[in-house]
Amino acid sequence: MLWIMRFSGFFSAAMVMIVLSPSFQSFPPAEAIRSSHADSVLRFSTPTHSGDKFSFRRAPAFRNAGECRSPKVANYSVCDPSLVHVAITLDVEYLRGSIAAVHSVLQHTKCPESVFFHFLVPEIGFQSLVRSTFPELKFKVYYFDPERVRNLISSSVRQALEQPLNYARNYLADLLETCVTRVIYLDSDLVVVDDISKLWSTKLGRKSIGAPEYCHANFTKYFTSHFWSNSRFSGVFSGRSPCYFNTGVMVMDLGKWRRFGYTRRIERWMEVQKTSASRIYELGSLPPFLLVFAGHVAPIEHRWNQHGLGGDNVRGSCRDLHPGPVSLLHWSGSGKPWLRLDSKQPCPLDSLWAPYDLYGHST
Ligand SMILES: *[C@@H]1O[C@H](CO)[C@@H](O)[C@H](O)[C@H]1NC(C)=O
Ligand SMILES: *[C@@H]1O[C@H](CO)[C@@H](O)[C@H](O)[C@H]1NC(C)=O
Repeated sequence: MLWIMRFSGFFSAAMVMIVLSPSFQSFPPAEAIRSSHADSVLRFSTPTHSGDKFSFRRAPAFRNAGECRSPKVANYSVCDPSLVHVAITLDVEYLRGSIAAVHSVLQHTKCPESVFFHFLVPEIGFQSLVRSTFPELKFKVYYFDPERVRNLISSSVRQALEQPLNYARNYLADLLETCVTRVIYLDSDLVVVDDISKLWSTKLGRKSIGAPEYCHANFTKYFTSHFWSNSRFSGVFSGRSPCYFNTGVMVMDLGKWRRFGYTRRIERWMEVQKTSASRIYELGSLPPFLLVFAGHVAPIEHRWNQHGLGGDNVRGSCRDLHPGPVSLLHWSGSGKPWLRLDSKQPCPLDSLWAPYDLYGHST
């Protein structure tokens, strides 16, 4: 708790920045390449859930406000139509971030008991940790077998972008119960500071996914010249107006996803990357998503992904917010707030992440 006090000055300064002057400098989102699973070093030893190396404080119980819809099915079975579904990955490296993200969702929604979390894990053993941290949480843990994608992953510029769990979002439609036809996917390095039910009720129209789009970003650079010079590849974008979007915050229509077989379409592009004479893109899990969806994305307000707060990938410098209101803060980029706070070298906006951190011993 000491550091919360220490950085409370930063905190107020940052709040003032948000309220009075949402941005000092805008930066190309393109550079905030991928979010989770960036180049951070493992800080935890293997989780020994009963041991003291890896403990989270218990979050308070969060209760629904009076106006929340009551469950249609007894005990909120996962198929209850009044639920808001959120999917997020849990792994040792980003666990602290994932727990903070969940905490932030619960804290800002009017109907926390109506949120159902779907946790994708690369190894067994997170169930009891989640249960002890959030005793009343509605959740289910799904094992995502890293082998499922390992053969499809080609080496990328940033080693960390190759984490199999990074690709788990491609498989949500297969993993989740078929009664779940919409899900919000969230990365592990973000906090939600608004009611997630607003994001949940986004209208997707005829589109299969929704995300904030960044049409001023230079789309060309996500693919190689080999890709652009070969119409067999680049022809995929003809008749489309593709824009960059960040895959760390998406509203996904899983019904359409299943019907149109998007998982397989994404995998096919990964196979092309793997087998073509020369790479068609350099990054990890993002380009296949762009290939399938860019230009076919329902636009969501930018407030739902204020990304890039992890800092510049090359220089590691701090970043400011984009102009406009903020509903979700995303530390995509190379730095993570918990590492910078621990190392006593935080960026000013890291103090906005700190209140959601539950890592540490209960007293
Ligand atoms: C809800 O679940 C609890 C515990 O599993 C069970 O005891 C109770 O009977 C259930 N209530 C209903 C209405 O099904
Ligand atoms: C976009 O990026 C490509 C490849 O990096 C570059 O050749 C091109 O000049 C850029 N276009 C603009 C408008 O910056």
